[in-house]
Amino acid sequence: MNLQQFPYSSDNFSYVIFGKHSALAIDGGAVESILDFVQKKKLRLTYITHTHLHPDHNCGTRELLTRSGATLLDGVYLSEHSQIELDGMPVRVHKTPGHTADSVTFHVDNCLITGDTLFNGTIGNCFSGDIKAFYHSIKFLMAFPEDTLIYAGHDYLKYAMSFSRMIEPDNPDIDPYLKSYNSAHVCSLLGDELKVNPYLRFNDSRFIEMLKKKNLPISTEFQRWESVMSIG
Ligand SMILES: [Fe+2]
Repeated sequence: MNLQQFPYSSDNFSYVIFGKHSALAIDGGAVESILDFVQKKKLRLTYITHTHLHPDHNCGTRELLTRSGATLLDGVYLSEHSQIELDGMPVRVHKTPGHTADSVTFHVDNCLITGDTLFNGTIGNCFSGDIKAFYHSIKFLMAFPEDTLIYAGHDYLKYAMSFSRMIEPDNPDIDPYLKSYNSAHVCSLLGDELKVNPYLRFNDSRFIEMLKKKNLPISTEFQRWESVMSIG
C-alpha cells in the first residue's frame, strides 16, 4: 500500500498517496517532509487536495503548489468527482459531512483517510451543526470491512481513550488498543474502533446499557447516536 503519513504542528497529519510516478498530497501542512519524500522517491507531486477546508488542513497548500507545480483539486472538484486517478489507481472520494459540510473521506486499497470526520478513538466536533448528516457519514464509514485502516487528520488517540475509559470504565478492549498505539505511525483498524470508539458503539449492548443507566434515550439507533453526542 503506497501511503505515507507525515506529522506536523502539534498533532496534525498530512498524507501522500503514490503510484509508480505520481503522488497525491492530502492536507499538505507538512510541506518540507512531503517535498523531501517525493524527491527521494523520484515522484512527481501531481495533485494536492484536502479532507476539508479548515486552516490547519490547508495551511501548506499555497507553498506546496508553488514549489511543486502540482494541480489543486479543490472543494468544487471534490464535490463533482467520485474518484481521483493516480497512475491508473483509483482514489475514491466519499462525501462525509458532519464535522464540516465539505468534509470528505478518501478511500484507497484498505485505507480510509478520514480527516476530522473519524479519529482513532473519537470523532470530530460537529461544527456543521448537522448531527443527522454526521450520523449518516459515521454509519457509512462503519460499513467498511473491519480490517480497514483508519488514517485520521489528528492524533488524539490517548486523549480519546481517557474519555472512552471515563464512560466505559470496564471496557476490556481499551488497554490492548492503547498498547498497539505507535506514535510514529498512527492508524487503527475499523474493527478496533467499533470496540473502543464511543461514537461507533451505539449498537453495542454494553454501551446501550450504559446509556440507559444515564437515562438517555435509546429506542432508535439515531436516538442512541444523539445520546452519545450529548455525553461528549
Ligand atoms: Fe477540522
